[in-house]
Amino acid sequence: MPGKNQVRARFFLNRLKWVGLLWLLLLIFTPATFAQEPITIKILVPAFDTKEWAIFAQQFAAKNPDLRLEPVAGPMATNLVEDLYTSSFLLGDSPYDLVYMDIVWVPKFAAAGWLMDLSDKLPPQEQKAFLSGDLDGGRYKGKLYRVPFRSDAGLLYYREDLLKQAGLKPPETFTEMVQISQTLQKQGKVKWGYLWQGKQYEGLAAMFTEILEGYGGFWIDPKTNQVGLDRPEAIEAVTFLQNTIKQKISPPGVTTYQEEESRRLFQNGEAVFLRNWPYVWAEANKPDVPMRGKIGLKPMVHAVGQQSGASQGGLGIGISATTRHPQEAWRAVQFLTSVESQRQYVLHTGVIPSRRALFTDPQLVKRYPHFPSLLPVVDRAVLRPPIPQYAQASDILQRYLSAAITNQLSPKAAMEQAARETRSLLGKKSES
Ligand code: GLC
Repeated sequence: MPGKNQVRARFFLNRLKWVGLLWLLLLIFTPATFAQEPITIKILVPAFDTKEWAIFAQQFAAKNPDLRLEPVAGPMATNLVEDLYTSSFLLGDSPYDLVYMDIVWVPKFAAAGWLMDLSDKLPPQEQKAFLSGDLDGGRYKGKLYRVPFRSDAGLLYYREDLLKQAGLKPPETFTEMVQISQTLQKQGKVKWGYLWQGKQYEGLAAMFTEILEGYGGFWIDPKTNQVGLDRPEAIEAVTFLQNTIKQKISPPGVTTYQEEESRRLFQNGEAVFLRNWPYVWAEANKPDVPMRGKIGLKPMVHAVGQQSGASQGGLGIGISATTRHPQEAWRAVQFLTSVESQRQYVLHTGVIPSRRALFTDPQLVKRYPHFPSLLPVVDRAVLRPPIPQYAQASDILQRYLSAAITNQLSPKAAMEQAARETRSLLGKKSES
């Protein structure tokens, strides 16, 4: 008979064998388990978009069990999101595999070597499906760095009901817009005439591009680096904006508005006209909005003898040059820029697609009857200068525009200084 101690020892030896076996099994299977862990593809997105991105993440995971899309919420304003991407690239080893890019960042990011060249990934046949302005905005020195995801172009919204009641046609020129505003303001029909984005941020530069175009001016010619900010047309454009405030057509607070502040005032019935992006139509026609069904939209007004200009905006997707998962990141780009993803995003948000065919897509037109009429507007949209120094050029313009519309400088003085600084930024000392 074995003694008590012997029994215990055998019992422990047996247990040890089992524990050893378990360890062995774990060692054999653990690497396989790790290999099946999905690869994460990270992207930084503006905060207002997080709901839509959560849906994309779910759908992407369902279609790609080996991958995971992780949207990280950033700030609201596009230039602040740009700052975050920029610092992550400057620090090296950016955590983001994808870059959700405003059209104006492309030359800077591409010139810095932060983006993967996607030219060979999107064959010319597939490129044709996108709006040409959007696609052009994704190119730098002939190479493609960004696939368009959603487009944008500035529009003029107006109170269709008020204009009809007064027997007035929607304005074509700046002067007509001012006159209609004053008429309806005098009649006490509405408090303000015209709302726009006057805060010192990227939206101010985007909005100004349209006024400038409407006066026949230009900011920077990307081919020659000529600067047009101190030309008479540009000074007239700034004077127009300054006057809207002086003449009480626009509220004094307009110098602090971004897109959302101006939209809220407009859809509460405070003004006849609003300059904004296409997303406003869906927002202003939501069931609880006082102005639902009373709003029309059209291309921006212009000076007599000039043409209307819409600022070309929009976001697209690029791939970080440093991603460890370029193939997987490309699968995510394909998914996000596909017809289905765009249709869904547009249906939910009211922004415009970057795929041409979607402007006449029956499902989208049913929901947004004005979409086909926007095609000619986006086709004529004007790019902000596609140069690597864009962020600094925009910063200069924003500062001097802001000084002029808040009456710290005359339009002429402001634009002369803006032009001088822009020229020295571009390495040109004197005249345009
Ligand atoms: C919109 C446009 C973008 C622009 C921004 C300015 O998001 O799509 O291109 O830079 O507005 O606020």
